[in-house]
Amino acid sequence: MAAERECGDQPLRFYLEAIGCEATTAAAVVAARSAAAAAREDPKRPTPPPEQLHDRNEAAAREAPAGAGKGEPSPQWRELERRVASCRSCALAERRTQTVFGSGDPDAELLLIGEAPGRDEDLQGEPFVGRAGRLLNRMLEAIDLTREAVQVINVVKCRPPNNRDPRPEEIAACRPFIEAQIRLVAPRVILLLGRVAACAMLGEQRPLSVLRHRWHRIEGIPTLVTYHPAFLLRTPARKADGWSDLLQLRARLEAERGTARR
Ligand code: URA
Repeated sequence: MAAERECGDQPLRFYLEAIGCEATTAAAVVAARSAAAAAREDPKRPTPPPEQLHDRNEAAAREAPAGAGKGEPSPQWRELERRVASCRSCALAERRTQTVFGSGDPDAELLLIGEAPGRDEDLQGEPFVGRAGRLLNRMLEAIDLTREAVQVINVVKCRPPNNRDPRPEEIAACRPFIEAQIRLVAPRVILLLGRVAACAMLGEQRPLSVLRHRWHRIEGIPTLVTYHPAFLLRTPARKADGWSDLLQLRARLEAERGTARR
């Protein structure tokens, strides 16, 4: 209750509860409170209340021409998917059950990039379907997004053995596919999940603590770095910090939508 009162219109308590964070933990409340304040600091990038975001999404859906966008893959997207499915450019191809191309809306305004498929993803052919995926869903819901509305991919399309980090040569082999996906989705904003994705995509071998908190650009697209959901499962004390990233993301998405309408 205290957290809700302190942070005004931010659905902080909902978020903290949804992602399994103790809302009453003093550290969590303090971290989340300063995150909410930081997100409100820039008057050019206001964080609208969630109901406003809903209205805009619904309005955009109404304005879209019949049959346009929303989930319908283009022929180029389909072709890319076929090329990925038959790729044997690196050793990961030998042990995979299947490639994990991506999931969600191929015209999404938000593109999330994670690390690599794990066991569940390799079996099901979809990114983020395990426990980390369920946490990711709740994180998105907390900022009024759904998995269906965003596009989720990884820096490599095949599962590394024993869930080790993907190697530089494996990431390099997949890079043309990732770049093609970024160009085809043409999202307003990119969110990088965790250190491996951040270092791979930004080409900077620096700690996550240095890469978070500021905006980067990939192919000109505003890009933010946050914790990997699997890390948050192991380190729940950081979940409140992750909330500050989500607020920043939501504010930027809103600002980018506004710029596009002008
Ligand atoms: N972790 C990732 O980075 N990607 C997945 O698809 C699943 C877990």
